[in-house]
Amino acid sequence: MQVADAPSEIRRSSDLGSVSWKHLGLAALVSYALGICTFLLWSALTALTRPNPRGPNGPKVLKDSEYPPKYGKIPEKTIWFYYNKGWDPMPNRLVDLCVQSFCVNNPDWNFEFVSDSNVLEYVSPEMLPDAYWTWHKPANKKDMVMANVLALYGGVAADSTILNFKSLNVLWNRMLTDAADAVVYWYRFTEPWPEHDSSAAWFFMARRDTGIFRRYAQDIKTHFGNVHLDVSRVGGKPYLAFATGTVEPIMIEINSSLPLCSTDPNTAGRKTCATAMTHHVAANKDLNNTKVVFLDPNDQNHGPQLNTWDALCINNGFLDCPTPSLSRPSAKDLWEQYQGRKDNPYFTMIKLFGGGGRFAKQHPELLLLNKDDERENVMSMWFKDAGIELDKPNYCGSISGQMLKNEGLRSETTDQSASTFRFPTEYV
Ligand SMILES: *[C@@H]1O[C@H](CO)[C@@H](O)[C@H](O)[C@H]1NC(C)=O
Ligand SMILES: *[C@@H]1O[C@H](CO)[C@@H](O)[C@H](O)[C@H]1NC(C)=O
Repeated sequence: MQVADAPSEIRRSSDLGSVSWKHLGLAALVSYALGICTFLLWSALTALTRPNPRGPNGPKVLKDSEYPPKYGKIPEKTIWFYYNKGWDPMPNRLVDLCVQSFCVNNPDWNFEFVSDSNVLEYVSPEMLPDAYWTWHKPANKKDMVMANVLALYGGVAADSTILNFKSLNVLWNRMLTDAADAVVYWYRFTEPWPEHDSSAAWFFMARRDTGIFRRYAQDIKTHFGNVHLDVSRVGGKPYLAFATGTVEPIMIEINSSLPLCSTDPNTAGRKTCATAMTHHVAANKDLNNTKVVFLDPNDQNHGPQLNTWDALCINNGFLDCPTPSLSRPSAKDLWEQYQGRKDNPYFTMIKLFGGGGRFAKQHPELLLLNKDDERENVMSMWFKDAGIELDKPNYCGSISGQMLKNEGLRSETTDQSASTFRFPTEYV
C-alpha cells in the first residue's frame, strides 16, 4: 500500500508551484528509497507466510543453490533405506527384521534412514521434482530419493523387504576391483524372465558421483517431475516406469546387447515393454568410460530371487496363509532352494515381493521364533540364519529420525510394531 502511495506524494509536491526542482528531486529520491524499503519488507513477509511448497512434512526450505546439509558428511559405504512415513516406529515386523538383518551383517557400513521428514537433509529441494510431494505411492518416492542419494553419496539402496544373510562387501569389493560404477541386478542376464522388468528396482549399489545415477535422477525428474506419471514418455508398465523404464536407456548406452523385455520373444505382451532402444543411436559404440557389474536376480547359484510365492502366499488369494513349516511341500522346496545358494559368496540376500506376502502380514509374531518352537518356519529359520536372535536389543540401535548404530534398546517398539500391524500396500 505504501508503494502505491509514493507517486501520489510526488504529484502533491508538483502541485505546489513554489517548490523548486531541487526539492522535487529530493522528494522523488526519498519516495523512491521508501518504495524500495517497503518492497523489500513486503517480499520478506510474503516469503515467510507463503505456504511451504515442499508439502506438509517439508522441513526448512533451503535456498536452491545450497548443497544439502549432509553433503560431505556421509561415507560412500552407506546402506540407504527410504520410507516416506518414517522409521520410528518401524512400518511393521517384517521390515523391522529385514532392516536389522542388514545391520547385523554389515557392521562396517554406515546406515541412513530417510523419510519425507528428513529427506531435505540429504537432497536439496531442486533435486526433487515439484510433483514429488503429491506422489501417492511410496515406491515412486523411494525410487526418486534413492536415485538422488546414490548420485550424491553412493552406497546401497535396498528395499526394506530384503533379508540380508551376509556382508555386502563381496559385491562392493567386486565393484571396486572391476573399476565399475555400479552393481545392477538385471533380469534375463543369464536366466529367462517372463515379466517386463529389466533392472531390479529393489537393490542398487553404486560409487558416489556416477554419471549413471546423476542421469537417472535427472531423467526421473524431467520425465515425471510435474506430471502424474505420464509413462508414455518411457513406455511400458506404469509401475516399472522409474527403475526399468528410466534405467534401461542409460544401461544400453553402456552395453547395447543387454537383454531387454522388448527384444525377448518369450515375454508375453511385448507391447507393454519399455521403449529404451528408440533413443539409441545404432552406430554408437558402447560406452567404455563407465562400467557396470550385472548380476541376474534369478541366477540359480547366487540370485536373491527364490521361488517364494507359494510358500509365503505372495500375491495369491486372501485366505489365511498356512505356516511355511518344512512339512509343507512349497516351504520345503523354498528351503532347499536357499540351501542350494547359501554358500555361494555372491549370495547375500533374498528379496521378498508383495510386501513379504500374506504370511508375514497375517503372522508377524511367527517371523522370528525360538528354535524349539513348534511353529518354527522358513522365515523364522532365515532370520536366525541371518544372525538375528529373539529378544535381543535392536541390532540397528535406536531410531529417532536416524538410527544410531549399536546404541540403545528398542525391543519395546519392536514388540509394538508386531502387534499393531500397519502395512502400506504399495510398499514392496
Ligand atoms: C553385455 O551384455 C551381454 C549380453 O547379456 C553380455 O554377454 C556381455 O558380457 C555384456 N558385456 C559387458 C561388458 O558387461
Ligand atoms: C573405448 O572405445 C573406443 C571406441 O569407441 C576405442 O577406440 C577405445 O580404444 C576404447 N578404449 C578402451 C580402453 O577400451
